[in-house]
Amino acid sequence: MLIQIKVLAIISLLFSSQMMADGHITKELKITDDSFSCIRDMTKVGSLYVSNLNGDSAATIAVANSEVGGVYPEGSLVQLVPTEAMVKRKSGFNPATEDWEFFELKVSKTGSNINKRGFADVVNRFGGNCFACHIKAEKKWDMICKQGHGCDALPTTPAMISLIQKTDPRCESNEALTAEEIEAGIQLKKLLGG
Ligand code: HEC
Repeated sequence: MLIQIKVLAIISLLFSSQMMADGHITKELKITDDSFSCIRDMTKVGSLYVSNLNGDSAATIAVANSEVGGVYPEGSLVQLVPTEAMVKRKSGFNPATEDWEFFELKVSKTGSNINKRGFADVVNRFGGNCFACHIKAEKKWDMICKQGHGCDALPTTPAMISLIQKTDPRCESNEALTAEEIEAGIQLKKLLGG
């Protein structure tokens, strides 16, 4: 009887989704408010900031830098602005979104709050569906839009993006703004209806 139970336990371990092909036991990735922090503590690749919530930032940076594209590894966190993020879940987690989970965050001096999260159903504060835009990126870019990857362009300029990145309220100290970024701030306010 005892042996039977042991055999069953071993079999269930072998077939458990926690068991990787190479024999490593992986833990389910838990994503909470604390998974996100000052955008500039991540690694800057082009205009994007990337890191990896499983600790394998090198693998994420390698794909972000690749000129031929590639599939981002599990745990990859990609951001352009502090309030929007994409996290790559494990392979097969959500095939429709290529396993990307979309996040809309509220950010302040005290940290990040996940306002919305999910897969094909998350919309940003302008009513735009994250997935509907990001799916337009050519397949080889794994839903990363950047510029020239096939997505419809955002109405923001590069100076607006760098202004937003430089003024993340979660960062301890913020860098000085250039005259161009200050001007971009005025334009951005107009764009947002302010
Ligand atoms: C109107 C289309 C559109 C919508 C809606 C949209 N995005 Fe994007 N997103 C883009 C484009 C285009 C870029 C690249 C902009 C650039 O680099 O200038 C981008 C950039 C990003 C990036 C940086 C990586 C990349 O793909 O370049 C992340 C992360 C991101 N968006 C997440 C989100 C999330 C999360 C939502 C929903 C809450 C969202 N986006 C909604 C079009 C969109």
